Amino acid sequence: MSDYILAKQNGRKIPLEDKIFGISSRAKNMIAEKGAGQVINATIGSLLDDDGNLVVLSSVAEAVKELEPVDFADYAPIGGIPQFREAVKKAAFGSFQPKRFTEAVSTPGGTGAIRNAIANYSEPGDKILTSDWHWAPYNTIAGEMGRTIDTYRMFDEQGRFNGAAFAEKVEELSEAQGSLVIILNTPAHNPTGYSLTLEDWDRVMDSIKSAAVKAESIVLLVDVAYIDFAGDEEEYRRFLPRLEAVPENVLPIIAYSLSKTYTLYGTRCGAMICMAQTEAIAAEFKRVCEFSSRGSWSNSAKLAQVILSKIYGDPELLKKVDQERAGYREMLIKRGRAFEEEAKKADLEIVPFDAGFFVSIPCDRPDEVSKQLENQGLFIVPLAKGLRVSIASVSEAACRKIPGMVKAAMEK
Ligand SMILES: Cc1ncc(COP(=O)(O)O)c(C=O)c1O
Repeated sequence: MSDYILAKQNGRKIPLEDKIFGISSRAKNMIAEKGAGQVINATIGSLLDDDGNLVVLSSVAEAVKELEPVDFADYAPIGGIPQFREAVKKAAFGSFQPKRFTEAVSTPGGTGAIRNAIANYSEPGDKILTSDWHWAPYNTIAGEMGRTIDTYRMFDEQGRFNGAAFAEKVEELSEAQGSLVIILNTPAHNPTGYSLTLEDWDRVMDSIKSAAVKAESIVLLVDVAYIDFAGDEEEYRRFLPRLEAVPENVLPIIAYSLSKTYTLYGTRCGAMICMAQTEAIAAEFKRVCEFSSRGSWSNSAKLAQVILSKIYGDPELLKKVDQERAGYREMLIKRGRAFEEEAKKADLEIVPFDAGFFVSIPCDRPDEVSKQLENQGLFIVPLAKGLRVSIASVSEAACRKIPGMVKAAMEK
């Protein structure tokens, strides 16, 4: 007997509530009951200041105030306004000038880019490859379209990126399916905070090139949602030239999001940018992705497209935005370092962390431990392989407190 009344399950397992939003609402209820001082809500994936207020870059907020009604009320073309399509390439690539054919298609956030890449470069029933530690909505996005997520072990025994496990899975799935979509979320991976090194990238590209000899197509979707919170913008774009040295049947796509970089989460703006070896593959990319957009959300909202176009049309404004973000990035990195320091003191093992919004802790009883911590007023997210702490949403003082609390709960 199905648990469903009228709705069709269609192979999906739909929980009664979204896990993260559910935990977060329990945290809010406890705050209402006991006061904010008694609760640490480390579940939220947005950057908050030390007082718990959402950080909104003031330079971006000023630009929003100067908009004309037509800038936000009008439809944008399906693939985005022309100025945005150019601006978003500059935002994603920085000073790197790709030699391949690039096309940008606007999407509602990075989520839309992930959705359209899976829709157009895999088939129903296919497995999409990503690491065992991963952003849970990849499963939802894939499941909505009759695909599933398959994984490789992200870290080896020494805590380094597991290039061998990656290579093995790429080989296995591309051989079994003929084509493969791979999602790599780096730098400042969610949920671990890991950034692939250039050596890791060499391993990744070698594996893909070797599998591509027999495969029909391999799409490498690089989800860079946190790229501008990883550290120096240019340094963390140094992997980009690695994406060019691949044969024609390998298509790198950048999933770019304005949510974190411009603190424009709710405006739902992002883009998918291809790096194709031929003009025909790039033109096909634009055509099929715009078609998918039309059939799912139609046009993306215009507001943030205009904002990004204005930022990239005004070097002074761009400088202001970058400087302001750098300040918050420092705040976030300091929180991460504080967390690492305290974890070391408490002898708490964490997954290798470089930067970003989250730190992860391996744990084989994640649901039990997080429930116990909730009773003590600490709200974190249980994942399949451990616990995720959002350092983006709590103060440095809280980052110093959390490791000891988690260690004690894990020992009970
Ligand atoms: C790993 C990862 N990818 C992509 C996204 C996409 O976010 P959005 O659709 O809000 O741009 C997020 C947001 O939390 C994320 O954590």
